Amino acid sequence: MEVVPVRLEARRVRFRWSDTSPDFIPNDPFTSHTINVLHLLLPEGERWFSRVFRQADPLITSESLREDVLGFIKQESMHAQAHSAVLDHYAARGIDTSPFTAKMEFLFGKLLSDTPPVGSDFTTNNPHEWLVARIALIAAIEQFTTMLGFWVLDAKELDAANADRVMLDLLRWHGAEEVEHRSVAFDLFQHVSGDYRLRVAAMALVLPVFLGIWFHGTRFMLEADPDVPSSMRASELGLVPRFEWAARRTKRLPSLAMFFAAAGRFVAPSFHPSKEGSMDGAIAYLARSPAVAALRSRAA
Ligand SMILES: [Fe+2]
Ligand SMILES: [Fe+2]
Repeated sequence: MEVVPVRLEARRVRFRWSDTSPDFIPNDPFTSHTINVLHLLLPEGERWFSRVFRQADPLITSESLREDVLGFIKQESMHAQAHSAVLDHYAARGIDTSPFTAKMEFLFGKLLSDTPPVGSDFTTNNPHEWLVARIALIAAIEQFTTMLGFWVLDAKELDAANADRVMLDLLRWHGAEEVEHRSVAFDLFQHVSGDYRLRVAAMALVLPVFLGIWFHGTRFMLEADPDVPSSMRASELGLVPRFEWAARRTKRLPSLAMFFAAAGRFVAPSFHPSKEGSMDGAIAYLARSPAVAALRSRAA
């Protein structure tokens, strides 16, 4: 698999949300709200990535890795801003997402803050180990954002379903940049630690938590949207078969098997994110993205 050095740039794209409905896939509120969970989850998570990576700077002894980490931080900060703007738009449309985002603030701002959780093996006397553990968690999360990036770039079924063009552009611009910077968190983890057992432990934690948050968020959105009939609501466990049905029959969502397979590849001793797939789809999308094109014409 190619390993092409890429200079990571933050594309300061803008999206116009005024014509986008929260049910952005016509007649498919379930899939729309399952994907909407990304707007609820990612901003706090991506801001946390940036805070953690800034702290890792003194540990970096390679200038090229430092440059990659800086590019990663800039891209993730831009992703967080873009997804937050969607939430502002949804609030104006009568969907208050703050009860859910408050939980994300607690997770990333308190539980995973610079102070290790009380009672954990990490103590305030050893901030280095806690920092390394959080970098391992980010590397594991980035395995899923990479998988989702490859998936959404290729998800022709969303186009066939007539999904909102602006939302698709946001998802694919973000997905392309996830593919573009897919190696940075893993390379940083290898640089500061490379402890294989820690890598496996991080994925063992991230896989169930990531999926749990996603189903919890889908339940939340189906209940928060006043336009969704109450018959569509279900518990998190009740949503699992519906998710899998949508993934397999409509192909408008990634399947659970894709998450487990991505986790399995991540814990293989010979894993490196560069082997996850080609950059071609991401480069091609960034060349035709309406938001990136608008950015280029503003800059010209
Ligand atoms: Fe991102
Ligand atoms: Fe990322």
